[in-house]
Amino acid sequence: MGLANGGDVVTGDPGVWRLLGENHCNASARFMLLDLRGKKALVTGIANNKSIAWGIAQQLHAAGAELGVTYLPDDKGRFEGKVRELTAPLSPTLFEPLNVQDPAQIEAVFAKVKEQWGQIDVLVHCLAFAGKDELIGDYSNISPEGFARALEVSAYSLAPLCKHAKPLFSEGGSVITLSYLGAERAIPNYNVMGVAKAALEASVRYLAAELGEKQVRVNAISAGPIRTLASSAIGGILDMIHNVEEKAPLHRTVTQDEVGGTAAFLASNLASGITGQTIYVDAGYCITGM
Ligand SMILES: NC(=O)c1ccc[n+]([C@@H]2O[C@H](COP(=O)([O-])OP(=O)(O)OC[C@H]3O[C@@H](n4cnc5c(N)ncnc54)[C@H](O)[C@@H]3O)[C@@H](O)[C@H]2O)c1
Repeated sequence: MGLANGGDVVTGDPGVWRLLGENHCNASARFMLLDLRGKKALVTGIANNKSIAWGIAQQLHAAGAELGVTYLPDDKGRFEGKVRELTAPLSPTLFEPLNVQDPAQIEAVFAKVKEQWGQIDVLVHCLAFAGKDELIGDYSNISPEGFARALEVSAYSLAPLCKHAKPLFSEGGSVITLSYLGAERAIPNYNVMGVAKAALEASVRYLAAELGEKQVRVNAISAGPIRTLASSAIGGILDMIHNVEEKAPLHRTVTQDEVGGTAAFLASNLASGITGQTIYVDAGYCITGM
C-alpha cells in the first residue's frame, strides 16, 4: 500500500514502506524504513469503515504492526459484530470491549494486554462523545452534565488509558490521540467538543512530560473534517467540509488513510524525536487567514 503524496514514499516488501530521501538526505541516511513489524498497537475507536481509527488500523497493519482492537459495547452487540467483521482481515490478536466511562473495562483491557502481549508499543486513542444537543447553537446553553460527559469521554479518558499502559510500554512507545482545530478556534456548533479538544491537547503535553522518562512519546493529530458517525452529530459538518475544500491550500479535506499514514509515522522510530505535539493533517487549512 502506498501513500497519496507520491515522490518520497514507494511500496516495498509487503507491509513495509520505504522512504527514499534521495533529494534530502546524505548517502548513509538515504534508505529508511517505516517498519512497525514486531510492534504491538492497541487501537480504540473503530465504529465502522468510515472511522478515522479504521484508517489508522489499516495503515499500522500495512506497516507490519500487530493489532489489538477495542469496541464500544452496547446492549444489542451492534458494534461488536460490525467491528469484528470489519477488522477480521487485519487479524487482531486482541479484541476487547471498552467503554472508557467504566474504569473496570479499562482495567480489564490492559490486564488482557499484559496477559496476551506482555507489553504494548503503540496506543491509539481515537474516540469522543458529546450529546447532539450540545453540538448545535449557542455554547452558553451547555448543561453541567453535558459538559462533564463530553470532557470525560473525549479528554479525561486519555489519562487512565495512559496510566494503565505506562507499566506495559516498551522502550520507545507512542501514544496518539485525535484532535480538531476547534480546540483553538471558535468553530460554529463545535462548542463543548472544542473545549474538550483543548483539554485533550493540554493533556497530551502533560502526559508527554510524564511518559518521556520511559521514552514514550505522546502526540495529537489534529485532523481536518471527515464524514464519520461522530462528525455527523455536529451541526453543519458538511458546511465545515465545503469550507475546507474551498479555502485549504490543498483545496480538499483529508482522508482517513492520510490521518492513518501520519499515525503510522508517529508510531514509528522515524518520529523518535517528536513528543507533546499537535500535528495538523488538515490539507493546510489551519494556516489560512481568510
Ligand atoms: N471526523 C472528523 O471530522 C474529525 C476531525 C478531527 C478529529 N476527529 C476525532 O477523531 C476521533 C474519532 O472520531 P471519528 O470521526 O472517526 O468518528 P467515529 O464515530 O467513527 O469514532 C468515534 C468513536 O468513539 C467511540 N466512543 C464514543 N464513546 C465512547 C466511550 N464511552 N468509550 C469508548 N469509545 C467510545 C465510538 O464507539 C466510536 O468508535 C474523535 O476523537 C474525533 O473527535 C474527528
